[in-house]
Order: sequence, then C-alpha cells, then structure tokens
Amino acid sequence: MILVTGGAGYIGSHTAISLVELGHSIIIADDFSNSKPETVEVVQKITGKSVATHRIDVTDRDALERIFQNHQLEGVIHFAGYKAVGESVIDPIKYYKNNIISTLNIADLCVKYNVLKFVFSSSATVYGDNASPLTENMMLLPTTNPYGETKAMCERILHDISIANPQMQISLLRYFNPVGAHESGLIGENPNGIPNNLMPYITQVASGTLKKLSIFGNDYPTIDGTGVRDFIHVEDLAKGHVAALEHLSEGVHIHNLGTGKGTSVLQLVKAFEKVNQIEIPYEIVERRPGDLAKCYADVSKAERELGWKAEKTIEDMCRDAWNFEKNLKSKM
Ligand code: UD1
Repeated sequence: MILVTGGAGYIGSHTAISLVELGHSIIIADDFSNSKPETVEVVQKITGKSVATHRIDVTDRDALERIFQNHQLEGVIHFAGYKAVGESVIDPIKYYKNNIISTLNIADLCVKYNVLKFVFSSSATVYGDNASPLTENMMLLPTTNPYGETKAMCERILHDISIANPQMQISLLRYFNPVGAHESGLIGENPNGIPNNLMPYITQVASGTLKKLSIFGNDYPTIDGTGVRDFIHVEDLAKGHVAALEHLSEGVHIHNLGTGKGTSVLQLVKAFEKVNQIEIPYEIVERRPGDLAKCYADVSKAERELGWKAEKTIEDMCRDAWNFEKNLKSKM
C-alpha cells in the first residue's frame, strides 16, 4: 500500500491514476486546501477502483500517525505542499512551516513504522541559476523565493535522514514544467484566482476568461528572446513517479523529470494556436523578477536508471490542456 499525500492535487491525482493502473494499491491523504474531493471520484471513475481517502493535513502528526498505524504501508509519495511562488515571498512562514513540517512528519513516521520507500516532489528550481542542461550532480544554488528554498531544504533533510537511517529508500524527483491534463479531459490544472503559470494562463485566454497573455520579456539570450522551459506532460510525469518508486533501493536517488527539450514561451503559444486553432492575443511586457532565461533538463539519468522517458509532445500538452479547460468551462 502506497500513501499518496496531496493525491487530489494536479500532479498527485495523475500519479494516483498511474499507480492504480499499474497495479499498486494506494491511500490518498489530502486536506483539499487547493484541490477538490471530486477529483478523487474522477480518479476512481477512470481507474474503476475505489481509493481510500483521508481528509487530513499532513502537518497534523497525530492524524498522519493514525494512517501509519492502521495500514500496512510500503511507501509514501509526498506531493502535499504549498507551491505558489509569489505567495511564498509574501508569507514565508506559511511556506516553511507547511512544507518542512509535513516532510519531517512523514519521514519521522516512516522511520518509526519501518516504511522504507519515500518519494519526494522536488523541483528544478533547486538548481538556481546553474546553466542548462541541468544534471542531477550539480551543486544546488540559491533559489529566488521561499517556495524554492523549502524544496532545497527538504532535499537536504532527506539526505541527512538517509545517512542516519541507511535502510531508507529515498527518491528526490526534480520536476521541470508540468503542463497538460489527463487525456480524458476530466482532470487537470485548475488554479484558484489568476494563474501564475504560463499554460493555465494561456488556456484561460483561449476560453475568454482572461483578455490577453503578458509575455514576460523578449530580450533573453534565447531562440526568440522569450524564456525557454522544459515543459513536460503531466501524464509522463506521473509515470516517472511510478518508475522511480519501482526502482528504489537504499540511499538517496535524484532524478530530473523533464523531456530534455527546451521550448520558448512564444513557441508554446504558437504551438497552442496551431493545434487548437485559436488565436492567443499577447503583449510583451517587462521581465518577471526571478525568472531565468533557460531551464531544461538533462534526462539521461532517469532514462538510464529508471527506464523512463517522457513520450508526449508539445502538441499533446497543448491539446490536452485546452481539452480540460473546455470541459471545465462547460460545467460552469
Ligand atoms: C515557476 C516557478 C518555479 C515552480 C514552477 C511550478 C518562478 C520564478 N518559478 O516556474 O519555482 O517550480 O513555476 O510550476 O515563478 N510566463 C509569461 N507569462 C505568464 C506566465 C509565465 O511570459 O503569464 C513565462 C515566464 O516568464 C517563464 C515561462 O513563461 O519564462 C514559464 O513560467 P511559469 O509557468 O510561471 O514557470 P516557471 O517560472 O518556469
């Protein structure tokens, strides 16, 4: 049995589906602070299996411990966490408290109950401004915000826990830019308020919810001056988690989950327009503070060690993101 914290969230729910489809039994723990219980219903509908769900905040150690007491857990995939970069600058205490305490609680209970497998949701943001392509052995550099720092700190905490508890099997997965949605169109990214990230912004411009996209800078040293990112389809990312879980062994194992390909903001906009036959009005504005010119992965380690590789294209990502947004709109 695998405990999936944050299993109703964007990446968590897609991973829950992959896990169930590949024969794992799972329990979801989620406080639904940034997700909805209905998403778990969709996970059950897609997989045809029922999934036990506990509404708890994983910073509540007692509530979490009850799950460890009542279930024979084999491992944990820990997604639950706050992830809004801008909010983390305004309220760093909220971010440090939530993201660090949840990770400590889970690791502590894993050690106490001899649950050896721990997969952690990290981010490419921990590379700071190292030059792309980014490789897992690079030294971590400061990030530009508390959210990024919580990811780097949790990685360091898990390293120390591994040294003290060499039986633990820990996977740190550094995500690049997850986008897209489940091919059914039933689950995807549905941020509260105005989106911070590029793809949800584009889909909301496409649906008419937002008027036009602001592109943050076109004077970067990139192919067309706009920022370059490694966009990865969320279904590929989900499969990467299952591969990481299934290949775990003692110690800490770090893998980039990306495609290894850089795509510029403008290239993504053009691909979206072409695939979906919708015009996305945009204007070029000032650079956003803290943004990097380029961020893309070297994915050879994940390919070699996990036998996993992202398969979906930018076109798939654009089509599925729009398909989900249209579905969402039709329900409103
Ligand atoms: C951001 C976070 C990163 C986090 C990730 C989670 C920052 C600096 N980084 O990554 O820590 O792990 O989200 O998904 O916030 N863009 C526009 N217009 C928009 C939105 C974005 O031009 O309205 C551009 C950005 O300048 C960037 C690219 O699109 O070049 C991607 O931006 P975004 O989707 O926010 O992701 P990151 O900044 O790469």
